[in-house]
Amino acid sequence: MIMLNIFKRLFGKTQQKVDFENLPQHIGIIMDGNGRWAKKRGLPRTSGHVAGAKTFEKIVEDAGNIGIKVVTVYAFSTENWQRPKEEVDALMTLLEDYLDNGLSRLAGRDVRVHFIGDRSAFSDKFQEKLCHMEKATMNNSGLLLNVALNYGGRNELTNAVKLIAQKVKEGELSYEDITEDTISSYLYTAGQPDPDLIIRPSGEFRLSNFLMWQGAYSELWFSDCLWPDFTKEDLLRSIYDYQQRNRRFGGV
Ligand code: IPE
Ligand code: IPE
Ligand code: MG
Repeated sequence: MIMLNIFKRLFGKTQQKVDFENLPQHIGIIMDGNGRWAKKRGLPRTSGHVAGAKTFEKIVEDAGNIGIKVVTVYAFSTENWQRPKEEVDALMTLLEDYLDNGLSRLAGRDVRVHFIGDRSAFSDKFQEKLCHMEKATMNNSGLLLNVALNYGGRNELTNAVKLIAQKVKEGELSYEDITEDTISSYLYTAGQPDPDLIIRPSGEFRLSNFLMWQGAYSELWFSDCLWPDFTKEDLLRSIYDYQQRNRRFGGV
């Protein structure tokens, strides 16, 4: 009871401090620390991923309720295939569970789901499920949720360069006309605002190939909290801290 009251007081404080008129439009989240969360409890790493998946759904709901417009979550990187097959399989099973049952859990919530990353690595059946979830939510106008799957910022830029080179080769685009906006328009996040804030829990201070182009001027926020333990209070705290920053974009 005492703990609950302390939590309520803390929660209330940050909630009061956040300026809800000046929210970051787009928040990127590197959902890291599932393995260490499980290890601390003597559980297999896969249990950490199960707990992390629950936190993912909860935080997406919280972000929507707070009024955030775009959230991009890093769920599986182009480098994560290097993990033991057993762990990769467990992660894929969790993702499939989200694709099969996530829609009913999202029912009534105004969330548009979009998957970013290289889909060609997934089976046709898996890719169909990705399209199905996107189509089923495409008319929702509340929170836009980008789920990064087999995503790598370098892979995304390499693909963009190839597509642009092809257009130039075919005479559909002249190389003098290539601008920063051209490049943005060939990324998975085409048409979306760049992330204002990128959150990384788990005590690591790196981007691990997440939104390399889009994050050029993002404010970075780090925390020791392991992803399964991440709460709405942590999210509000990151937004509050973001609001204290002075974004200069190279100016004065
Ligand atoms: C993040 O947690 C989940 C994915 C990368 C898929 P980790 O599995 O990287 O957890 P740690 O970093 O080993 O604790
Ligand atoms: C980043 O976490 C990828 C995801 C959270 C999906 P990692 O655990 O893969 O990153 P590193 O290996 O610590 O850089
Ligand atoms: Mg990790």
